[in-house]
Amino acid sequence: MNTLIKGDNINALKFLIEQRQLAGKVDLIYTDPPFATNVNFTITDGRASTISNSAKGDIAYTDKLLGRDFVEYIRERLLLMRELLSERGSIYLHTDYKIGHYLKVMMDEVFGIENFRNDITRVKCNPKNFKRIGYGNIKDMILFYTKTTNPIWNEPLKPYAESDIVRLFPKTDQDGRRYTTVPIHAPGESNNPQEFKGMMPPAGRHWRTSVEIMDQWDKEGLIEWSANGNPRKIIYADEKYGKRFQDIWTDFKDPQYPIYPTEKNIALIELIVRTSSEPDSIVLDPFCGSGTTLEASARNRRSWIGIDKTDLAIEITRKRLEAGEGNLFGNETEFIDLSSSKP
Ligand SMILES: C[S@@+](CC[C@H](N)C(=O)[O-])C[C@H]1O[C@@H](n2cnc3c(N)ncnc32)[C@H](O)[C@@H]1O
Repeated sequence: MNTLIKGDNINALKFLIEQRQLAGKVDLIYTDPPFATNVNFTITDGRASTISNSAKGDIAYTDKLLGRDFVEYIRERLLLMRELLSERGSIYLHTDYKIGHYLKVMMDEVFGIENFRNDITRVKCNPKNFKRIGYGNIKDMILFYTKTTNPIWNEPLKPYAESDIVRLFPKTDQDGRRYTTVPIHAPGESNNPQEFKGMMPPAGRHWRTSVEIMDQWDKEGLIEWSANGNPRKIIYADEKYGKRFQDIWTDFKDPQYPIYPTEKNIALIELIVRTSSEPDSIVLDPFCGSGTTLEASARNRRSWIGIDKTDLAIEITRKRLEAGEGNLFGNETEFIDLSSSKP
């Protein structure tokens, strides 16, 4: 069941907790609130401005709450979001370099610094050559927290480029397969070290796996012995899908011709959805704008809940989902109008 709610999210989040009993049931929240930019974001003749003070055009949303009031406004909402998150839940807060550091301190307070996972640097656009005192700004930030230390985590992998394979797998075996080798021991002594082929792990280290598994690797030719008798595990390039994502994301710039101001890159949100939720999860976006998170969730067969307070955002979201392959809005989507309730 998917749900689109029109109204202030303070009411909508309370509604989800009190009326829908969803406390502890949401596995993923992606939230992209206003950034305290002090501008109105507009759409003129169907074209969304990325940043605008224009008096012309329809206001998509206003972003005039600043400083302490802004931080407090977000804090109130984050407390409700925390209540909705499941024990395996995660939250990603998309913000920018001007207000983000204040929000980081507040997120530490609400979610606990021990649950802080990443401050992801997202490259949002190509370099701009506006004259200004200061370096060009091409990044924003995504603060990633989990509710507990046992979150849903489907390790995302980035396919290797040809140059990565040459660099990371520098050796070639007699069949032409590229490979590298890694130590079979790791730092830290074990209480009960065992012999492998007459060897003990070096001082201060332990075997990375059991001696039975290392014997099996050796039988299968997966151990390379150095000239001075040191065993290393062989890792073939063609058995590895890709490399780990790091915390600088360069592949997810925002759309050049957005349907809504500040519309985010859908591939960015799909990555987050696949990594931090499961197919039966509920994904919530309380500041859903044009519905990017909702489309990303539907494409990955997650249930979604979207909230926005403007008519324009709701209309664009609805049209976008209806136009999605197989009508992602669908008969199973409930539309709830809370816009007459006062925050
Ligand atoms: C930065 S935009 C989100 C853009 C969205 N991620 C996308 O890809 O289209 C922020 C949205 O939050 C909405 N918003 C701001 N304050 C809100 C509130 N208190 N309750 C619900 N929606 C709100 C605005 O109308 C706007 O659409």
